[in-house]
Amino acid sequence: MTLKERDKKHLWHPLTQHKLHPEAIAITKAKNCVLTDEDGNEYIDAIASWYTCMYGHCNDYITSRVYTQMQQLDQVVFSGFTHEPAVKLSEALINILPENQDKLFFSDNGSSSVEIGIKMALQYHFNNGEKRNTLIAFQDGFHGDTFGAMSVSGLSVYNGPFEDLLLDVQRIPTPNGENHGDIIAQLKHIVANYKIAGFVYEPLVQGAAAMKMHNKEGLELILQFCKKHNIITVADEVMTGFGKTGHYFASDYLETKPDVMCLSKALTAGLLPMAITSCSKQIYDAFYSDDIAKGLFHGHTYSANPLACTAALAGIELLTSKDIQSNISTIIASHKTFGEHIKQHEKVSSIRQTGIIFALDLNIKMERYGNLRDKLFKFFMSKGVFLRPLGSTIYILAPYTISKKELEKVYTTIEEALEIL
Ligand SMILES: Cc1ncc(COP(=O)(O)O)c(C=O)c1O
Repeated sequence: MTLKERDKKHLWHPLTQHKLHPEAIAITKAKNCVLTDEDGNEYIDAIASWYTCMYGHCNDYITSRVYTQMQQLDQVVFSGFTHEPAVKLSEALINILPENQDKLFFSDNGSSSVEIGIKMALQYHFNNGEKRNTLIAFQDGFHGDTFGAMSVSGLSVYNGPFEDLLLDVQRIPTPNGENHGDIIAQLKHIVANYKIAGFVYEPLVQGAAAMKMHNKEGLELILQFCKKHNIITVADEVMTGFGKTGHYFASDYLETKPDVMCLSKALTAGLLPMAITSCSKQIYDAFYSDDIAKGLFHGHTYSANPLACTAALAGIELLTSKDIQSNISTIIASHKTFGEHIKQHEKVSSIRQTGIIFALDLNIKMERYGNLRDKLFKFFMSKGVFLRPLGSTIYILAPYTISKKELEKVYTTIEEALEIL
């Protein structure tokens, strides 16, 4: 029996209606930008396996560092203990994070990092003697699948069964350059009527909302408004972090720095699951007390796993290297050229780009998980390119190590796909 057949017996896949999509593709190998399936077919991983393996799959530098660490210290409780990989990672990460970030809290996936960010915002006010229980979020953001993260996600189309159980959230539109006055008016109304603890947002690019990009000046105004009203700003950089926007973090484009930041995905270069919620000293100080109950009583078993910390540290070394920075510039320039060309196509209604994140919208209506979208996905795979269209949006978010030839193949395949629609 093939892996594909054996899979069906016991496995339940994420975001999958198994009756409609009964088969998974069995991947047996991954190296740099190429995934290989059990039949020997190869696919260029043009979305870096959900934006994780930005330095390529099975990167020798990262795997050898983790292998060495494995023989020294594999796992230890992080409550009451510490270790060199976590300490070194903290020093390296604080060095590249926005200057107000001071403390790091570990967990093991993006949703949890958001959950922790929300708890920090809520408890910050609680510890300061104020009960603030409502959050603000963008209408079509996505922050993960745990309850707090689902609550602040506007895109939770399939979350019907849980809707009555979610946190209180007020939603605002994303700034588009024309609606700033309306957003500020809405914010004024919200603060007059609700006790707002925090604002959770994906800065500049909303990944799951089909790489929707919003206006920097508008976001700046929202953040300034939040600061003025002591609303804790929680930047979810799970998708945007670690170089994808052209800066280390999307928040680097903004003058107003977030109080809290959520990091995962490329944090560990795609090798191991880990997440970090970082915060400013002001947030940390609200938890620092003689009163034990003012601490943040949240903890995951694998917090700061030494192997994941080692992968993250090696990843930061690569990210800050000349080679990777130069690759990032090359990809940015290459996407720009492709964008100029493809935007002329009659089936393309718009294109957008921030850093190495490129997206194009088709002027053909498609359901997020509908038949036409599936047809497009299958076409890409038949051509050896792994792209996951989000409704009628096709986006590229490839590893920084993608070759010129591979990138050209991704572009040509997209262009060919427009002909089958
Ligand atoms: C912006 C953002 N936040 C949070 C998450 C959730 O991360 P995870 O899937 O690791 O829980 C995602 C996942 O795609 C994301 O894009």
